[in-house]
Amino acid sequence: MTNPSILILPGDGIGPEVMTEVRKVIDWFGANRGMAFDVSEDLVGGAAYDAHGTPLADETMARAQSVDAVLLGAVGGPKYDELDFAVKPERGLLRLRKEMDLFANLRPAVCFDALADFSSLKHDVIAGLDIMIVRELTSGVYFGEPRGIQDDNEGGRVGINTQRYTTSEIRRVARSAFDLARKRAGRVCSMEKANVMESGVLWREEVQWVRDNEYPDVELSHMYADAGAMQLVRWPKQFDVIVTDNLFGDLLSDVAAMLTGSLGMLPSASLGAPMANGRPKALYEPVHGSAPDIAGQGKANPIACIMSFAMALRYSFDRGAEADRLEAAVEKVLADGLRTPDLMGQQDLAPVSTAEMGDAITAALDAGI
Ligand code: IPM
Ligand code: MG
Repeated sequence: MTNPSILILPGDGIGPEVMTEVRKVIDWFGANRGMAFDVSEDLVGGAAYDAHGTPLADETMARAQSVDAVLLGAVGGPKYDELDFAVKPERGLLRLRKEMDLFANLRPAVCFDALADFSSLKHDVIAGLDIMIVRELTSGVYFGEPRGIQDDNEGGRVGINTQRYTTSEIRRVARSAFDLARKRAGRVCSMEKANVMESGVLWREEVQWVRDNEYPDVELSHMYADAGAMQLVRWPKQFDVIVTDNLFGDLLSDVAAMLTGSLGMLPSASLGAPMANGRPKALYEPVHGSAPDIAGQGKANPIACIMSFAMALRYSFDRGAEADRLEAAVEKVLADGLRTPDLMGQQDLAPVSTAEMGDAITAALDAGI
């Protein structure tokens, strides 16, 4: 039997330094839990552009298609702001999502008890929070045609993007949300703007169709996305699973991330159809960006990226108990008071570095054997 394979794409900014900590965790599972992985590494984003003149080389794309799971750090940075749109670092990530057809992006927002007082919201509002945002990731306004910037023939220019969704695109991501809800509290809230967008009307109808025909046991509600954003900060615990499109999901998941205290806490899994070996096509990445302002200073929080590996254990490698073990180690370290600078708030603690946080998590894993 060959080991499961992981392709690591650290990317830009804080990506490489948080990924160094994830490597420690991966190695820990290899050494202590008999779960050796074949790990390889490659470039994406600005780092790939610097080396190859493209944010994702074809060979890297092919490798991503051939492994069991891809783990990505972050892409982008001010150095690349002036680049042509087609070679911007973000295009590398979007190409991975599109060509691997990773249509279901799972973004859990869980509030750890140790951080409940740290959120900008009141303790009661977020203590015990556990919601899952399912964001459609391969269609909508991110990819719709026509798109571009053109002359408007009146001396000005016009910028065009197209919001476009088909029945099958909506139904498959809705099924992912309903499947997850069945393993959770059994409730899905679908968000769109059916009051102003035809694509939103279709979204609402198709999600309802999937519920009525295939998941009658799951409770489904609908909300306009703006009202949903408001409800997310008013009383987030009303939600179990939220399913929404690519653009609304981008915004709503950043809102949800902040409920948990810091963007540095939120992992994600992007899943596609099953491969020949039964595992889904999969890419795991933290929701946070490349944070160029703090890159290379040991200030980054590696937890979102480490928890993304926990999601890989759960969704790609069918090792839910090991994922629980890793999440418990993170919870323990936070309960012990360890904080990277993003988690400092009003507290009187000295912050720990990125590497110290990673070491503390592997030490907590050690202690738990
Ligand atoms: C995210 C990011 C990306 C997105 C960027 C980096 C292209 O914001 O994953 O949420 O907009 O999807
Ligand atoms: Mg985003």
